[in-house]
Amino acid sequence: MKKFYITTPLYYVNDQPHIGHAYTTILADVLARYHRSLGEDVYFLTGTDEHGQKIQHAAEKRGVDPQQHADEYVLHFTSMWEKLHIKYDGFIRTTEKRHTDRVKDVLNDFYERGEFYMAEYEGLYSVSEERFVTEKEVEEGGFREVIQLKEKNYFFKMSKYQDALIRHIKENPDFIIPSSRQNEILGFLKKPLGDLCISRPKSRLKWGIELPFDKEYVTYVWFDALLNYITAIEWKTDEACFNKWWPVDLQLMGKDIITTHAVYWTTMLMALGLPLPKSILAHGWWLSGGSKMSKSLGNVVRPLDLIDEYGVDPVRYFLMRDMVLGLDSTFTMDAFIRRYNSDLANDFGNLINRVTILIKKNFDGKIPEPGEFNLTDKELIDEAGRIPAEIHLLIDALKLSDAIETTTSLFRKLNVYLEKKAPWKAVKEDRSPKSSAATTMYVSANVLLIGARLLSPVMPSRIKDILSLLGSTSDNQAGYDFGLLTPGTIVGESRSPFPRIILDD
Ligand code: MSP
Repeated sequence: MKKFYITTPLYYVNDQPHIGHAYTTILADVLARYHRSLGEDVYFLTGTDEHGQKIQHAAEKRGVDPQQHADEYVLHFTSMWEKLHIKYDGFIRTTEKRHTDRVKDVLNDFYERGEFYMAEYEGLYSVSEERFVTEKEVEEGGFREVIQLKEKNYFFKMSKYQDALIRHIKENPDFIIPSSRQNEILGFLKKPLGDLCISRPKSRLKWGIELPFDKEYVTYVWFDALLNYITAIEWKTDEACFNKWWPVDLQLMGKDIITTHAVYWTTMLMALGLPLPKSILAHGWWLSGGSKMSKSLGNVVRPLDLIDEYGVDPVRYFLMRDMVLGLDSTFTMDAFIRRYNSDLANDFGNLINRVTILIKKNFDGKIPEPGEFNLTDKELIDEAGRIPAEIHLLIDALKLSDAIETTTSLFRKLNVYLEKKAPWKAVKEDRSPKSSAATTMYVSANVLLIGARLLSPVMPSRIKDILSLLGSTSDNQAGYDFGLLTPGTIVGESRSPFPRIILDD
């Protein structure tokens, strides 16, 4: 059986999740569900990043101990994922012993094998990014609190892997997706790669994993957190489990953390002698009012507000449909409502109502027996037959927005077909089995079933209702063949799955 291991970044528990975090997690969930629907063995991992300065500060601000803070804030994430119908297989917190123990193993191992050295470093340090930055980076902007810092620390000899990393990226075009990000990383690697400072003196930061070989220091939060991708799948503790899942198939993240993954994480794996991830994908940002949505800018959209008002599935649909992978996307309520009304209320929702009501009224609520297919029927049946394979290719190429659009285009074609065949008129002449109207309704219901199934990973809960409305039972859940709804199948009564949103201006 083919396996598929997919990860999200670990989210900092310094604040509540917003649409940006929800996006990555929903994306991973949709891809995991698609792969599961293809019969693959899937492991979908997410979790929380609980050490470091950000968490220490957040806890101090609330006047609580950092562990207590993390224990409380992790619940915002788990409950949000539950509300968003995220079906993960693993959830890891970096304060768990199964993680911290393995991080200490890596630290000891690197220390003993001479992958670390101690040195005094003086330079500019970004408090918000928690790393030393170059003058050029500061000039280019984007860092808020930059201070001059002189400190003795431990460094990982990252620079010695520079050539191997460049070679790997060039030889594996799917390693960093999209290619614009690959070029960005190759550009970054044109300059000599420095070594990575992996420690923080306790005098400055207490909240982290203590270095096992020097009690005066804690581990740099990124060195700690990145290792979750292997500690969660039992690296060193269950060989069979680890070998089953590693190397990871797809690691998702926003473009702001591509360097930490493509460079820090990758060179750490090289030093560990482990195979590299097959693909790492950097998506764009959700913008609001022209800037990245972030707590400090005060422009965040809280997913919960939208879910409460419009339901989970339309939110999942919008986020997946409106962001072209790799590019930024602007979130506005107007765009959300327009997309909802056009794709879900008009194209899809009307279709469900039309088909189920016509069958209910004219065929005793049962899928009628079709007669001979004419050219118009055949064209639509052929189209519906082609689409699943087309969509699978788009998903493999991670073009989710295009895949969704392709499904919507099938619904639009089905609407055109219905207009052309006008079964509401045809039933007045003849509504017997094998009549023209019966054939039209048989074809429509079956094409609708194929389209609905293709959208199931995106809108699992509403599609489940729609499938049962169409009389699709569990034994014919799998597959996208035409004709799974056989004559006699009972169709339910639609209660408008996507009521139109009326705007009062
Ligand atoms: N803790 C680190 C990741 C460690 S992975 C071992 C981190 N956490 S984060 O909570 O700040 O961000 C997590 C993810 O959310 C990142 O991929 C980031 O790109 C994404 N987003 C945060 N704001 C975002 C938007 N406005 N839009 C889209 N995604 C954004 O970084």
